[in-house]
Amino acid sequence: MSSKTDTRIDTLLRTLSDGKFHSGEVIAEKLGISRAAIWKHIKKLSDWQIPVYSVRGRGYQIPGGLDLLDSELLIKDLIAAGSQFKKIHVLTSIDSTADYVAKEWRQSPGESLVCIAEHQSQGRGRKGRAWVSPFAANLYFSIGVQVPLGLSALGGISLAVGISLANTLNRYANHPIKIKWPNDLLVDNQKLAGILVEASGDSTDNSFLNIGIGINWNMQQEQGEAIDQPWINLKQLVDKTVSRNQILSDLLIELEHAFADYQHNGLQLISKQWNSLSALYRQPVTLIRANDRINGIEVGIDSSGALKLATDAGEQIVHSGEVSLRKHC
Ligand code: BTN
Repeated sequence: MSSKTDTRIDTLLRTLSDGKFHSGEVIAEKLGISRAAIWKHIKKLSDWQIPVYSVRGRGYQIPGGLDLLDSELLIKDLIAAGSQFKKIHVLTSIDSTADYVAKEWRQSPGESLVCIAEHQSQGRGRKGRAWVSPFAANLYFSIGVQVPLGLSALGGISLAVGISLANTLNRYANHPIKIKWPNDLLVDNQKLAGILVEASGDSTDNSFLNIGIGINWNMQQEQGEAIDQPWINLKQLVDKTVSRNQILSDLLIELEHAFADYQHNGLQLISKQWNSLSALYRQPVTLIRANDRINGIEVGIDSSGALKLATDAGEQIVHSGEVSLRKHC
């Protein structure tokens, strides 16, 4: 298993992450640069909206400090769990972890890879939306895996990912985390996490999956202002001792099991959990598609991951669309 982290900026962040003042002299020495060159690195932190105080005679400080991911600890946990991921890249900042995985694959096609970032400048959500990705506030990661299944067998993979995430996070949370078909994670109708699945390959026996996951952890209200729906942080639902690092290693281990299970069983075993995990099971919903909308009651999923709706015209099976609770029925 190999790892990759950014160096100078990473050293600067780790030094300042304790929330204490550090003198320019000490920082310059740690980074191997002149004192005059420090500002360039500090400016980078400001570009990522990290507040840095600079006080004459005392040095630099990030008020309140930062809770950073620890790639060494993560790799240790994954090795101990027998993980087969070949590369774990923990990056300080990137445009999008999904784009990073796609680029890596152009060089080493099919090599299993995880990319995690503290910050994304162009995080992508579903349907062309942006994914708000402030520094060290949330979890942003993408997994690249090759699976011996054709594209036609992958219809349910995003549900398998959603179910695995929900099950893992529910072990920590003091409030039920539910799934809104196909794969939003919600708590009391507020968005906790999103999944972006991009698949390529042939139709019968070989596919590349690029699975991007964003989980709100401790985002400040003002950082999430641009989000056009109610959202919630995971940190407020878990014990104070639980860290982002611990959650991330658990999720990666469980997701690896979920991929293996999906290859052998599809949704066969896990679909039984849908009814208890679905945020809208047995509720009146409207499904909105590009050209039509369907009103019905959500009554579960089928073996391919399609949503089943009981409507006035009988049961309808839908493969795509946005589903929402119907308030007036
Ligand atoms: C959604 O719209 O609900 C899906 C959001 C997926 C966001 C994640 S964050 C990590 C990965 N990189 C991206 O650019 N997007 C995904």
